[in-house]
Amino acid sequence: MENTNESNSSCSITSKKPCSCTSEETVSTKDLKSHWDKAYTNSPEEKLGWFETDLSPMFQLIEKTGLTKEATIINIGAGSTVLIDELLKKGYNHLIASDISEVALKNLESRVGNKNVEFIVDDLLNSKKLSKINPVDLWIDRAVLHFFTEEKDQDTYFNLLKSKISSKGFVILAEFNLQGAKKCSGLDVYRYDAKMLQGKLGGNFKLVKTFNYTYIMPSGDEREYVYSLFQKTT
Ligand SMILES: C[S@@+](CC[C@H](N)C(=O)[O-])C[C@H]1O[C@@H](n2cnc3c(N)ncnc32)[C@H](O)[C@@H]1O
Repeated sequence: MENTNESNSSCSITSKKPCSCTSEETVSTKDLKSHWDKAYTNSPEEKLGWFETDLSPMFQLIEKTGLTKEATIINIGAGSTVLIDELLKKGYNHLIASDISEVALKNLESRVGNKNVEFIVDDLLNSKKLSKINPVDLWIDRAVLHFFTEEKDQDTYFNLLKSKISSKGFVILAEFNLQGAKKCSGLDVYRYDAKMLQGKLGGNFKLVKTFNYTYIMPSGDEREYVYSLFQKTT
């Protein structure tokens, strides 16, 4: 039988239990902003099912880009990730953290401050602000794209991405891989391998590096990701 990698532990959307990224609870797609705001309100961030402190797979790819510290880097669906803290510590000084959840970004801003970071609350699927930013040198997505299960939403996402990458710019996508869980945070996910991501990005992007990575959740459960770095060829 196929393993869905879902357990019965519950998420924190309606309770005070920590969000374990493993809920069987089905969440309406109608109010995703409220869904994510509640996830970040109802759980300490270090208990969230996607919280991580080992950023080595991400930095392996960031360092591979060879970008300078002045490069513009956007982390979309950043939530309250410590990736921003670590990028600042390493001296990157043109960062954008964007998310649909204002709660998540406020948590992040209260932790890292707003020096060298711009915070943009926006919905990737109905962008009002991201659509207006200047092109970026690096687009980083960890565990966001895989929530877009419908082709039209994936197309909206990739059209926005493609319009926002500077000449010879980079894209890092870290999503559940084909062996990964089928749900996260009560939401269905769409799983990828590097070839599928390449197909979505099209011929203007070349794959630089990809690897599978097993992420250990705060609960101790494992989640299978594929990390991929692409570069725009023009
Ligand atoms: C599983 S969390 C990952 C957070 C962060 N990237 C990390 O690795 O810690 C998914 C994030 O995507 C954000 N998100 C989901 N749908 C979104 C959308 N349509 N537009 C912008 N952000 C979205 C959520 O608010 C949440 O912060």
